[in-house]
Amino acid sequence: MRMEVMQVLHMNGGNGENSYSRNSTVQRKIISLAKPIVEEAVLQIMNNNYPESMGIADLGCSSGPNTLQLISEILSILNSKCSQLGRPLPELRVFLNDLFNNDFNGIFVSLPAFYDRIKVENGIRSYSCFISGVPGSFYGRLFPSNSLHLVHSSSSLHWLSQVPTGLENDAREALNKGKIFISKNSPQIVLDAYSMQFQKDFSLFLSSRSRETVSGGRLVLSFMGRASTDPTSDEEFYHWELLGQALMSMAKEGLVEEQKVDSFNAPYYAPCPEEVRAETEKEGSFVIDRLEAFQIDWDGGGREVFEAAVAAQRVAKTIRAVVESMLQAHFGKDIMDDLFRRFQELVEDHLSKTRAYYVNLVISMIKK
Ligand SMILES: C[S@@+](CC[C@H](N)C(=O)[O-])C[C@H]1O[C@@H](n2cnc3c(N)ncnc32)[C@H](O)[C@@H]1O
Repeated sequence: MRMEVMQVLHMNGGNGENSYSRNSTVQRKIISLAKPIVEEAVLQIMNNNYPESMGIADLGCSSGPNTLQLISEILSILNSKCSQLGRPLPELRVFLNDLFNNDFNGIFVSLPAFYDRIKVENGIRSYSCFISGVPGSFYGRLFPSNSLHLVHSSSSLHWLSQVPTGLENDAREALNKGKIFISKNSPQIVLDAYSMQFQKDFSLFLSSRSRETVSGGRLVLSFMGRASTDPTSDEEFYHWELLGQALMSMAKEGLVEEQKVDSFNAPYYAPCPEEVRAETEKEGSFVIDRLEAFQIDWDGGGREVFEAAVAAQRVAKTIRAVVESMLQAHFGKDIMDDLFRRFQELVEDHLSKTRAYYVNLVISMIKK
């Protein structure tokens, strides 16, 4: 049976031990890295035309402590700017988007406390911020034409719209045997399939946003990438390699069918800056204002003493909170605890030998 990304991908819900809410500090750190770039984009929008009503969308908002972080930052930036100029705060129309299975209700119940917190934090008595949820895939239209001034997305666009064509789990031939993502030994046909899917998806993403964004409007996009143009330089996505190894060790012990591992390929892609530039230029609706790459440790970093065992546990939980729904749909629920225990051991071994990091790209674009 073909796995539809839109139906199976969702972050682990609730507030339990394996939930995204409790295991999303790496993504929070990534949001904070992009903050100066968001600030610059907001101020430029204000300087250009000071909209009375500002349309803002956050794509792939998920649900949990990170979801309203962007809005809180934007309100604080706007509040400082408007007090400085002695002008009223613009009214904000905020659209929180994610896939259909996202826990939108979890976001909605937290809104009254959020609205109050904004007043206290910014020392304001009233402001107009209308938040709504918009379910659907960002690979396609989501909003009315010319309705948005700022589109933001963090830690989401590395998810493709589908497993690359030819590598789906019901494909006639398994082309990436024993692996679940691009790896050093993957044949060229696999690399091409991934690259083509990225190009198709990113172009569709941009053309959809192009219709929805006002001229001079901004996109600030932050997602996993890689530094090298070589897609097999696996340093930045070695976590997929280790997850594949954990699955293969279970296959060797007869706990997972090997054919199941052969037929699974992650709908994920981490482009290099050159690929992002090329697709943006080809699509033609946006001009890149800034493109920066940051390294971020697998466990988020920021610790005084590094202990591989502690870091590995954090890494395994972070990855589990994100990919478990998708792995469960293919391999079944029962193997998950064992799989992530093995994965954690492999991560610990890896971290005891080397510093492992992701590369995060942050791109700010202007609508022509
Ligand atoms: C790791 S979470 C990031 C959540 C939040 N932005 C943060 O920084 O913590 C990635 C989110 O992207 C969403 N996502 C993936 N593909 C999507 C798509 N095609 N359309 C909308 N949301 C998508 C997932 O459902 C998930 O909630």
